[in-house]
Amino acid sequence: MADRKDLDYTYTMLDKIYRICFGEVSDFSGAKYDGDFSITLEQAQRKKHEFIAESLNIKKGSKVLDMGCGWGGFLKHLREIGGKGTGVTLSAGQAKSCKRNGFDVYLMDCRTITPDTFGTFDAISAVGSFEAFCTEEDWQAGKQDEIYNNFFKTAAGLLPVGGRLFVQTMVFGKNMIPAAEIDINAPRFTDAHMCALMQQDYPGSWLPYGEEQITKNAAPYFKPVSKNSGRVDYIETQKQWRKKFRDFGFKKYFLYLSLLPKFLFDSRFRRRLSPFDEDANRLCFEREVLDHFRLVYHKVG
Ligand SMILES: C[S@@+](CC[C@H](N)C(=O)[O-])C[C@H]1O[C@@H](n2cnc3c(N)ncnc32)[C@H](O)[C@@H]1O
Repeated sequence: MADRKDLDYTYTMLDKIYRICFGEVSDFSGAKYDGDFSITLEQAQRKKHEFIAESLNIKKGSKVLDMGCGWGGFLKHLREIGGKGTGVTLSAGQAKSCKRNGFDVYLMDCRTITPDTFGTFDAISAVGSFEAFCTEEDWQAGKQDEIYNNFFKTAAGLLPVGGRLFVQTMVFGKNMIPAAEIDINAPRFTDAHMCALMQQDYPGSWLPYGEEQITKNAAPYFKPVSKNSGRVDYIETQKQWRKKFRDFGFKKYFLYLSLLPKFLFDSRFRRRLSPFDEDANRLCFEREVLDHFRLVYHKVG
C-alpha cells in the first residue's frame, strides 16, 4: 500500500497549490461530464457527487463513510443533502484542511477500520483511494488479489446486508505495457516513459488490471449494481486542472514565486507543475494504457 510518506508526497506537498487553484474544498478525482464538455469542472464534479449519492441510496440522516476523502468534496455534498459523513485520508495536509472546514475527518488507513472504530455505516464511498492500496512490490509478490479481497471484506464488515459501496478508480487499460518495459530513461512521450512518470507522481501505487480484477475480488461480499467508464471524462478533467494551474491569479502566482527555489532545485516537483512537461496521466488515458471506472456494489447476505 502507498504509505503516509507516499501520500504526503502526492497530496500534502501540493496542498496549498491545489486549494488555491481548485478551491478550498475541491475534488482530486475524475469528474462526471457524461460527454458534455460545455459544462464547467465544478458542475461536472457536482454531477459526480449526485451520481454517487443516488447510487448509494443516501437519504437525510444516512451515515456514510468516505474512504480517502481528499479535501472533502464529497463530504461537503453529503452535508448539503443532510447525510452524516465521516472521512478518512492518509494525507496529513488533507486531514488538517478538512478539519479546518468543519468535516469529521481522521488521519488513518481506511482498511484498518472496524465496527469498533466509528460503528457501522449505511453506505461507503471510495473515490480514488483504491488506486493506492497495492504497491508494485505487493504485485510482484503476488499479493494484489489478496489485498483487494481484504479491502472488500473490511468494507462489508461495516455495512448491513444490501448496503452499498461505491468505488471509483483508475485501472490499467487494454494497452498497458509489461511492467519490465517501464523506464524513466525511455524516449519522452513513449508509453514506457509515461508510465515511469506516473510511478513518480503516485509513488507506492500499482493499479488493478481492469475492472474485472476488482469485481472478482468483491464477489465473496458484494454483487455489482452498475459500472461505467470515466476515462473520457477524466481526460477532460485533466485538461481543466492544467488550465486552472496556469490561469492567472495574484495569490496563486505569489505562491508560485515563493516556491521558485523548490521549483528550480527539485526536478520531480518541477515536473508536476511545469506546463511544458508531459501530462502523463492524460496521455495514458488517451492511449488506453489506463482506464477508469465508477463501480457500484451492494452487500450480499
Ligand atoms: C485521488 S485522491 C481522491 C480524494 C477524494 N476522494 C476526491 O475525490 O477528491 C485519493 C485519496 O485517497 C486517500 N487514500 C489512499 N489510500 C488510503 C488509505 N489506505 N486510507 C485512507 N485514505 C487513503 C488519499 O490520502 C487521498 O485522499
